[in-house]
Amino acid sequence: MVVYDRLVSDEILGLAVPGVTLIDVGKRPQHHPVPQEEINDLLVSLARAGRQVVRLKGGDPLMFGRGGEEAIALRAAGIPVEIVPGITSAQGTAAAAMVPLTHRGIATSVRYLTGHCRADAELDFDWDGLADPDTTLVVYMGLANIEEIAGKLIAHGRAACTPVLAVVNATRADQRKLHAMLGDISTAVATAELQSPVLFIIGEVVTLSKLAEVPLDAICPQHIAAAE
Ligand SMILES: C[S@@+](CC[C@H](N)C(=O)[O-])C[C@H]1O[C@@H](n2cnc3c(N)ncnc32)[C@H](O)[C@@H]1O
Repeated sequence: MVVYDRLVSDEILGLAVPGVTLIDVGKRPQHHPVPQEEINDLLVSLARAGRQVVRLKGGDPLMFGRGGEEAIALRAAGIPVEIVPGITSAQGTAAAAMVPLTHRGIATSVRYLTGHCRADAELDFDWDGLADPDTTLVVYMGLANIEEIAGKLIAHGRAACTPVLAVVNATRADQRKLHAMLGDISTAVATAELQSPVLFIIGEVVTLSKLAEVPLDAICPQHIAAAE
């Protein structure tokens, strides 16, 4: 039995053993067809009924995936749980778009953020820390709030010309990329009418994504020199 989310592609679902039961509990932004508590209860009841359940999620189940909440609910019900790690979309996107998130000489750290807080609460981040130009930011679920995120980063000192890459459906056949600067990312996203799922990578390392398209020494020699 496979209980899956909307980020699981048809190709992956197609790998399920023929005849296995597939249950869709997919969620969409602002619209939650199956509340989390119901998913937890469903997993518990299926397991108690003696079913072997695969809870299948996109990316890594413990990275902004609520896998921890489900595991806790199952453990509380006395049901054994095994977690199989996945490749989170930050890693998949970085590889697919050829963005070295911590390229030596350009970024000394990377931070993964949610761009959407519980019950649409205000984004309460350490904005000064996030504005550090040596830090690459990867924003999950940031589509609805990218204007606020970009505005706060700039207000706290991050350069408006910081490169940003937005990737829709990363690693899939219909992957779509949008390059912009922090100062105009929200306009660019609106103009391009991007739809979820979108991952944003913010930072100078985004410049290096052009490695995939042009010769190394034609892009940003200062970055390459800095890394040597
Ligand atoms: C609820 S989070 C789940 C993250 C997932 N557990 C992971 O490890 O990637 C959903 C967000 O992940 C990002 N995401 C997941 N898959 C993506 C993909 N293929 N392309 C772009 N963004 C993706 C988007 O920001 C999306 O709004």
